[in-house]
Amino acid sequence: MLDGKRILLVVTGGIAAYKCLEVIRRVRERGGHVRCILTRGGAQFVTPLALGALSEDWVFQDLFSLTDEQEIGHIRLSREADVVLVAPASANVLAKMASGQADDLATTALLATDKPVVVAPAMNPAMWEHPATKANMAVLEERGVHRIGPAEGAMAESGEWGMGRMAEPDAIVAALEGLLGGAQAGLLKDRRALVTSGPTHEAIDPVRFLANRSSGKQGHAVAAALARLGATTTLVSGPTHQPEPAGVNVVHVETAREMLDACLGALPVDVAVMAAAVADWRPADAARAKLKKPAKGGKSAPPSLKLVENPDILATVSGRNEGRPHLVIGFAAETDAVVENAVAKRRAKGCDWLVANDVSAAVGTFGGDDNQVHLITADGVEEWPKVSKLAVAERLAQRIAETLKTA
Ligand code: PMT
Repeated sequence: MLDGKRILLVVTGGIAAYKCLEVIRRVRERGGHVRCILTRGGAQFVTPLALGALSEDWVFQDLFSLTDEQEIGHIRLSREADVVLVAPASANVLAKMASGQADDLATTALLATDKPVVVAPAMNPAMWEHPATKANMAVLEERGVHRIGPAEGAMAESGEWGMGRMAEPDAIVAALEGLLGGAQAGLLKDRRALVTSGPTHEAIDPVRFLANRSSGKQGHAVAAALARLGATTTLVSGPTHQPEPAGVNVVHVETAREMLDACLGALPVDVAVMAAAVADWRPADAARAKLKKPAKGGKSAPPSLKLVENPDILATVSGRNEGRPHLVIGFAAETDAVVENAVAKRRAKGCDWLVANDVSAAVGTFGGDDNQVHLITADGVEEWPKVSKLAVAERLAQRIAETLKTA
């Protein structure tokens, strides 16, 4: 979390500037404070009004503003922050930073600051690949400037594809947390964690499978959050497109039975968090060859699918007599009577906590970036606000750390 942390956000010119509005929202959601400097280029893409409304603070634009200078002053502005974030960081601002230019409020504050600086570059791929930009970035990184992104993708302004898209707000905020969370980094030191994530795929034949809509965002975020607090973390993941979280040992599996084996192989651990959407059933016999429709003109009934039950990984780990993790946490995906069903599920599965979320199509939890959960424990039910999946993961990891402290 970013509780009480002060972020000085420098917004420079680029179409990605709109994403910094989401960065502000997510920092504030985590208890952080954002103060903005908006460059002349940045103001072509976002307004001071939008930045000011979201940050609930003054937006600084002019180096020679009598009022701003009398009230705060650019040196104080750059030093009062815990971290300075430049997002988006244009090729121009990187060049100025590398050569120590200070010809506007943003570059003056960047030259004057004694705090860590994070840049989130965003520009056309040709500009990012240019030797001048590469050299500037190398100089900055050598001086200790932290870089997040850019990522590969489509360029909004030109339709080109390549490296140059600004990192997503969640990734930027996670980088800030990693940088500022030093005091917390050791909270789960010497602890081992197991997390499951993503769907499982259960083969019907060599080319078809049963699956569900889990993207792995929530489970991967939990693994990353536990690792950030210092836990030695194993993530057993079904097939997803999520990047592997930094500092996490990832075991890739496909089926529920493989996931169970990988989980048992990762024991003993202090905490197990089962966020995967494991298929409850699988086809009884996967066909060895691709099932075929009858040849044109021929008629036959479609093949019937006989299902058998998969092992229950959460119940198996919860029920172990020997080597049961101190804390076993499941997730419950419900589409109706969320809390009532989850309370009963916690008892049935024998886990300590259950994180219940509504996965009705209208809510968009599967694959979405946000989640609204209820934490169900033996002591009762807590309703958490709707926040990003990263924030849910951070809060859960904090709660795990508090609980294991006394274990
Ligand atoms: O991946 P995302 O797109 O980010 O979406 C996140 C999520 C909705 C998948 C996640 O938040 C979530 O709810 N995960 C649990 C999904 C699920 O399978 O719920 P369930 O109510 O069917 O199962 C309850 C618990 O038993 C889960 O911890 C599950 O991992 C576990 N289980 C289920 C079946 C089985 N055979 N073995 C299990 O271990």
